[in-house]
Amino acid sequence: MLLSDHWQLNPEIDFLNHGSFGACPRIVLQKQRDLIDELERDPIHYLAPERQLEPKLDQVRQTIGQLINAPSSDIAFVRNATDGVNAVLNSVPLEPLDEILITNHGYNACNNAARHVAEKTGAKVTVAEIPFPLKSSSDVITAIEQEITARTRLVLVDHVTSPTGLILPVKEIIALAHKNGSQVLVDGAHAAGMLPLNLATLAPDFYTANHHKWLCCPKASGFLFVKPELQDQIRPTVISHGANQIRSDRSRFRVEFDWTGTYDPTPILAVNAAIDFMGSLYDGGLSELYKTNRQKTLAARKLLCDELQIDVPSSDDMIGSLATIPLNATQLPKTGNPTHATDQLQRILYQEHGFELPIFQFGSASAPFLRISMQAYNELHQIERLAVAVSQITT
Ligand SMILES: Cc1ncc(COP(=O)(O)O)c(C=O)c1O
Repeated sequence: MLLSDHWQLNPEIDFLNHGSFGACPRIVLQKQRDLIDELERDPIHYLAPERQLEPKLDQVRQTIGQLINAPSSDIAFVRNATDGVNAVLNSVPLEPLDEILITNHGYNACNNAARHVAEKTGAKVTVAEIPFPLKSSSDVITAIEQEITARTRLVLVDHVTSPTGLILPVKEIIALAHKNGSQVLVDGAHAAGMLPLNLATLAPDFYTANHHKWLCCPKASGFLFVKPELQDQIRPTVISHGANQIRSDRSRFRVEFDWTGTYDPTPILAVNAAIDFMGSLYDGGLSELYKTNRQKTLAARKLLCDELQIDVPSSDDMIGSLATIPLNATQLPKTGNPTHATDQLQRILYQEHGFELPIFQFGSASAPFLRISMQAYNELHQIERLAVAVSQITT
């Protein structure tokens, strides 16, 4: 049996975009269906938080706590990383002229959330301009050092960047921000399931991540870690019963996030099944999965760069399971307009060659960028075929 047989992805498409929304294995989807059946047999008993839901969520909290090396009591569940980022941004106290520091590699939705909160509070958004291509992770630190000021209250930084697929030096960024008196919100949307995580060592103030990307859980679920002394401040994006519930058995932080109105908890409750399954793919468990995906990604990046005669755009140590390659302007389909050329390349790759991967513009570059994802179901021969197709279209 091929590893790809565990997924129900369309065999006519080479799916190289695990990074956007993930892809859920058959066995995990079946587990979720079973959970839905169980819920629908007795909806009140299942969903009433103090009857079955909270104890069930607590079991998953234990699993996530072990995965990220954090106390389970510091973990709340969110629908996705965008939700986690919004919860924190809307909760941290900000005054006019306070600064929220974001980066130009940040996820657009989350950077928009920072701008929205700044508009409401009178705070200012500052942007650290990280170059790409770049030489090493010290270029990231330099970019942040240039923008951090005494007014910076919150640094919002990605653990793994969405457009450029870079693992950022978050430990150093957190230390730098703390030295400067600022809190740090790490957007780890891609990190859970791609890298080993140790929040005790990283020591962020806030860390959010998706379960549905690299852990291959059903959509939509994620976690939000908040360090204990800040938990009273942080409220979910939806205020519900927990706001005025008197509970002596658990924190308001957990009570509020555990119930944000009626929702489907099965994507969260399938987390244990997903982690068990992904950990069973290789003898060495999740660490071997991370290592194998990374090796495949590095090999794929090198193959594409060699074939398309492009310099590798970052050092290997910044790569996990995503890699972005800036195409040369000379490799554009000849439309005369960069936006049209980007859209056209994406369309031709999908419709005529059967590839699903993002082709996009980034920053002020005139040529598009291409991002690949390498999950357990991906093989290097897909990249060999991609390199040939891109060369054919662009020359
Ligand atoms: C860095 C980063 N943050 C946030 C998100 C948003 O994820 P979601 O739509 O699941 O909230 C993404 C999605 O790709 C991402 O790459």
